[in-house]
Amino acid sequence: GKTIALVVAAGSGSRVGSDVPKQYRTIGGKPVLNHALAHLDHPLIDAIRIVIAPGHEGLFEQAVGSGSLPSPIIGGTTRQESVRNGLEQLALEGGVDTVLIHDAARAFLSGGVVDRLLAALDDSDGAVPVLPVVDTLARGGHDLGDTVNRDEIVRVQTPQAFRFGAILDAHRRWAGAEATDDAQVARAAGYRVATVEGDEGLAKLTYASDFAQAEARLSSAML
Ligand code: CTP
Ligand code: MG
Repeated sequence: GKTIALVVAAGSGSRVGSDVPKQYRTIGGKPVLNHALAHLDHPLIDAIRIVIAPGHEGLFEQAVGSGSLPSPIIGGTTRQESVRNGLEQLALEGGVDTVLIHDAARAFLSGGVVDRLLAALDDSDGAVPVLPVVDTLARGGHDLGDTVNRDEIVRVQTPQAFRFGAILDAHRRWAGAEATDDAQVARAAGYRVATVEGDEGLAKLTYASDFAQAEARLSSAML
């Protein structure tokens, strides 16, 4: 069976607040989506599929060009729905063994993460990259309630790797409120999800300031 990278790029990027959705905004002259795709070029990934928003077909073609990739899959109103639509399309097409579900907004994947994720799948149904929290965490927002023990907290990133049958089944059975990642969907269905070391480069481009920082990092890296 094949290993497919399923890239969800169907959001509106409302927290960045630019005129073009963030996955089509450029960093170093290149759209975020294209950065994300370039970093998924890995010997163990057989193909990449992209989930886009209805109405973004023009933006998608402008960024990626037509003909170079299989046609995009149309996403839904939440990330979870977009993932589900992607998984259902892959199920229709058949032949998928392993899927790496990835946010287009995490544009700077490093190769070692994919190696670690796929290795962890040898004895698990899923695997996710995680990083520790360095700041102090307080409940209660600005009221500053109890401090949360940060040793018990990790930040969970994407890509998230799964045996295809497991994550498809988990999404079909999910009955909770909106899930922000796929590991929680898998775990709710009883599947085992392992953790591997994440990467700071995978931080999600969420706010306008993240774009300014990425732009600065990229231009200093090219010196
Ligand atoms: N995403 C998606 N379909 C949606 C919502 C989000 O495919 N209906 C994707 C985004 O394109 C992004 C990833 O899920 O690559 C992570 O979501 P997030 O960072 O929240 O992106 P947006 O939802 O676009 O941003 P915002 O929440 O600020 O509007
Ligand atoms: Mg969002």
